[in-house]
Parts: sequence; structure tokens; C-alpha cells
Amino acid sequence: MQKTSDIIWQDKQHQVLFEVLDQIAEGEGGALVLEKLKYYAENHFAIEETYMQKLEYPHIEAHIRAHDQFRSELSSMVENGKQYDERFARVLSTFLTEWLKRHIFGIDKKLEDFILQSAEK
Ligand SMILES: [Fe+2]
Ligand SMILES: [Fe+2]
Repeated sequence: MQKTSDIIWQDKQHQVLFEVLDQIAEGEGGALVLEKLKYYAENHFAIEETYMQKLEYPHIEAHIRAHDQFRSELSSMVENGKQYDERFARVLSTFLTEWLKRHIFGIDKKLEDFILQSAEK
């Protein structure tokens, strides 16, 4: 049996999130790109949370709390989007990119291992 070291959907979605954050850093799309980030982030978090529920993941509460933190940071930044300019975009992108890296290499990695150990992928 072939052993996979990562989960393709999770990896791909993380990649897309980083791409959108790069677009924000480069000033592409203006404030609208925040809506795009919100859309992709929500979609991704919802899928991870569905897996956690289905597999009765023991650390589900802390993980959802972390997602909620990102959700609320992002929402308040979208609300501040009226003052959206190049500097704001760079600060936002840096902050969220750092947050996402920590999340992905930390608790997402643990979730990934857990999903890989279970039958459903
Ligand atoms: Fe994730
Ligand atoms: Fe996550």
C-alpha cells in the first residue's frame, strides 16, 4: 500500500491562501481581494472542521478557536477596508501570512497526521 505524507486537499487550499495573501501584499485587486481571502479561508476552515467533527478529533475545540480568531481578525480588517491603501495591505498580508504559517505548521500538521491515521482521507 502506498503511503502518502500529506493530504492533497489541505495542502492545495493552504497554497491558495498564501497566493491570495501574496496578491494582497502586491496591492492587486484593492480591497476586494480581502473578500476573496475571506471566501477561501472560510471554505477551507469549514472543510477542516467537518473532518474534525466526523473523525471526533480530540483537539477540535482549540482548533476551531484558532480558526475563529483568524475569522474575527479578518472581519475587523475587512471593516477597516475603507482606509485600504498600499501600506495597510502590506501590514495585513504580513500579519496574516505569519499567522497562517504558524497555524499550518502547528495545529494543522497535527490534524493532518490524525486524518492520515484514520481511514477517511
Ligand atoms: Fe488549514
Ligand atoms: Fe486549521
